[in-house]
Amino acid sequence: MAPPKKQVNAPLHLRSEGPEETVKIGEEIGKLCNPNDVICLQGTLGAGKTHFVKGLAKGLGVENANEVTSPTYVLLKKYRGNIILYHFDAYRLDHADEMAEIGCEEVFSSGGVSVIEWADHVGDCLPEEHFLLTIRIKGGSCRDMLLGAFGPELPRRMAQLEQALEKWKVDET
Ligand SMILES: Nc1ncnc2c1ncn2[C@@H]1O[C@H](COP(=O)(O)OP(=O)(O)O)[C@@H](O)[C@H]1O
Ligand SMILES: [Mg+2]
Repeated sequence: MAPPKKQVNAPLHLRSEGPEETVKIGEEIGKLCNPNDVICLQGTLGAGKTHFVKGLAKGLGVENANEVTSPTYVLLKKYRGNIILYHFDAYRLDHADEMAEIGCEEVFSSGGVSVIEWADHVGDCLPEEHFLLTIRIKGGSCRDMLLGAFGPELPRRMAQLEQALEKWKVDET
């Protein structure tokens, strides 16, 4: 008989009722980040990806976190916090190659935290270990979020994240 498939954790389902809540969710996650964490963001224009990154920056101790904007035209921005934050925006990229050319692999493992808006544009160059946050617009200021952890190591950090994000958790029972 084939061995049972390794348990993959179900993504954490969160709900944000406004931009400030999305920032707060990012901040809580930022506080729990470790060096070399990679957080991939998915969601259409206006979903709230950049607001989430603002919060993430706050949680990482970046002083000018409020100035975080989409790095659409520069592809990568760097912010100094307790841990360096690398903020990628792959919106204008059609290929993972372009992301590889700027040395994303070295950046991912350089001891900082990397966050990638439009990560689905560059799927081929993402590391095996990564968090994936999918944001969906539910109308008005309501956003549904799914936070998943991929790779052999990250899923075990979900319990701690779940605790910190309890306030925004959607009860699915
Ligand atoms: N719950 C919410 N979370 C985040 N942004 C929200 C929310 N509700 C409304 N908004 C609005 O949606 C827009 C999100 O912008 P932004 O964070 O730049 O999105 P993205 O980077 O995904 O394109 C902002 O205008 C913000 O005020
Ligand atoms: Mg953005």
